Amino acid sequence: SVAPGLVVAVDGTSGSGKSSTSRGVADRLGMRYLDTGAMFRAMTWWLLRAGVDVHDPTAVAARCAEPAIVSGTDPLAPTITVDGVDVATAIRSDEVNAAVSPVSAVPEVRSRLLELQRAVIAAESAESGIVVEGRDIGSVVVPDAPVKLYISADAAARAVRRAAEQGGADVAATQESLLARDKIDSGRATAPLTMADGAVHIDTTPYTLDEVIGLVVALVEDVGAHP
Ligand code: DC
Repeated sequence: SVAPGLVVAVDGTSGSGKSSTSRGVADRLGMRYLDTGAMFRAMTWWLLRAGVDVHDPTAVAARCAEPAIVSGTDPLAPTITVDGVDVATAIRSDEVNAAVSPVSAVPEVRSRLLELQRAVIAAESAESGIVVEGRDIGSVVVPDAPVKLYISADAAARAVRRAAEQGGADVAATQESLLARDKIDSGRATAPLTMADGAVHIDTTPYTLDEVIGLVVALVEDVGAHP
């Protein structure tokens, strides 16, 4: 039902619901799914393990070509490995949460992962299309994507959702950590989080996940039907 090669670009802040939305939309439409945030997290996990000072951009740049990062694109079972090790759980740790924004601000990290992202998108989108989720997808990674979304939600709503996802973490601390990441992600010089030209803005605060998925599915089907 969806045009082959169709790319849906989904950007937004941490905890806005963009991952659940992106996976749900890809599942409903039989599309593939790529979580680019997981790639930045995997890079960060590897750098921490390698003993690299993540707050030293020169040190990060010097090592960032080393890890082999592989993303699986099944929306129902997304996978991520680094040098063959499954890191799906490890990349959600507090240590990675605290280090991923400074790592993501390093231009050499971004250009390395951009190359990997474009290779996955080219290989995986051909037959069924792909939903790609991150911060710079509509602006940098796939600027000609026919569907671009910018997903946001109130900080308090995001903190409540994310804390629940993390098995009942402290809401205030979670909100502080989300806002700290947003600030760095939006303020960095290279490929900051912004609303891309032509993006549809969805504030998910008042909606359930199913409502947001339904809205986006309708949007994508409309574009797929009249490309
Ligand atoms: O979506 P997430 O919270 O898993 O992303 C983790 C971090 O990765 C986020 O703080 C910013 C960075 N990121 C990025 O800079 N560019 C992307 N396309 C995706 C994520």
